[in-house]
Amino acid sequence: MNYVGIDLGTSSVKLLLMSEKGEVINTVTKEYSLSFPNPGWSEQNPKDWFDQTMEGLKDLLKDGDKDIAGMAVGGQMHGLVLLDEHNDVIRPAILWNDGRTTKENHYLNNEIGEENLAKYTANISFTGFTAPKILWVKENEPENFAKIKKIMLPKDYLVYKMTGAFATDVSDASGMLLLDVKRRTWSSEMLEICGITKEMLPTIFESYEKVGVLKETYVKELGIHPCGGKKGDEVIFAAGAGDNAAAAIATGTVKDGDCNLSIGTSGTVFIPSAGYKETKNHAIHNFCDATGKYHFMGCMLSAASCNLWWMNDILNTKDFAGEQSEITEEDLGENSVFFLPYLMGERSPHNDEKIRGAFLGLSMDTKRKDMTLAMMEGVAFGLKDSLEIVRSLGISVDTSKICGGGVKSKLWQNIIANVLNVKLEILESEEGPSLGGAILAAVADETFASVEEACEKIIRVDHEILPKASLVKKYEEKYEVYKKLYPALKEV
Ligand code: XUL
Repeated sequence: MNYVGIDLGTSSVKLLLMSEKGEVINTVTKEYSLSFPNPGWSEQNPKDWFDQTMEGLKDLLKDGDKDIAGMAVGGQMHGLVLLDEHNDVIRPAILWNDGRTTKENHYLNNEIGEENLAKYTANISFTGFTAPKILWVKENEPENFAKIKKIMLPKDYLVYKMTGAFATDVSDASGMLLLDVKRRTWSSEMLEICGITKEMLPTIFESYEKVGVLKETYVKELGIHPCGGKKGDEVIFAAGAGDNAAAAIATGTVKDGDCNLSIGTSGTVFIPSAGYKETKNHAIHNFCDATGKYHFMGCMLSAASCNLWWMNDILNTKDFAGEQSEITEEDLGENSVFFLPYLMGERSPHNDEKIRGAFLGLSMDTKRKDMTLAMMEGVAFGLKDSLEIVRSLGISVDTSKICGGGVKSKLWQNIIANVLNVKLEILESEEGPSLGGAILAAVADETFASVEEACEKIIRVDHEILPKASLVKKYEEKYEVYKKLYPALKEV
């Protein structure tokens, strides 16, 4: 009996097949395109998510592995998907890293007011969140706004297509700025502010709860033998989670004192919290998590994507490892070049969609490898910005898990451990939200009693990377400089 986890990412969908014991049997990735129709805008066609997921499932499920009990999706967060009365998509989805909502974001934070928003949702508005996007459609595309019958997040669209269930989970719903995070219900104040009704929004579930079953037509198309649910004859769907909450499960980041760093297209710092806590500083997000509790999260908009941009678009090379191989241990902490990773603006902690990236400190002896190193260090400093806010809340973080495409680089792991001054625990399995999704499906199917129990049984640390006191000190000095660069750059 197996479970499928689906990571609905920004550049691709990753599918993972997990046995009921938690072993990873197979993984498949299918890519899709991302469009930037205007500077700072970011859109995707929801149909591509569904089509590529179905293609991926066909490749994933080899004969002999088709006994499927359940599935769940960990999805890119905050995206706005709108359906009309025929359940057709009204316009392309507006994604988490889209920065078009300057005006709406300003209205929410300044006219509705941050304190009110925090009272209604536990959070303030960020440009990428869903509520400002709804206001943008209302203002700029009134004909589309008038057609809205259903509002959903990317992963919920996939679940809707595959099961017919109009459902979401608390972790992903937290990023809409429509959820009363403390009470885990829709905020009537926010619905009124956005001019929408509760009927337009999905039913809210805990991430590990069953929301529906795979439609018969897809069971047949995929040749699946359903073996989940009470009678063992269904492919159940768990509500799933936002990709960061799903990645936290995949790394066993489920209790107070834990931390997960994700270096994907975005970079996030994820801190679980057993109980709801108010924060004075709303620069990081205060969300529900996928275990039934809460978490804090800081999100930088461009992390591994800085590396992709630098390698693919600027250096024009595919040899990622080769490019980094010239950087030695002695180079760390000695670089006089700084990189500001704001290629799509920045979310945490600056909430500034207009800021852009920069290289600073170049001189005639600057080498290509110094700029590569600066790019990697800049992403680590960006993560540290969020981690320092967490630390300022009195939460001590000295150890962290890490996941995402960027962490395949040992050099980057080492830089992150020293810049953040944390011991990194490198796991046996490198899987992120897709494994988290498979675990949620297994919990929903009662193969495990809880997410925590599943993590305890499945997730294993392989080795640790320790920060070095001398390097931590050098990077602390560099960080003092880095912190001054955003305000200076913002001025111009
Ligand atoms: C989190 C966020 C990103 C996306 C990436 O707040 O916006 O991490 O979820 O898929």
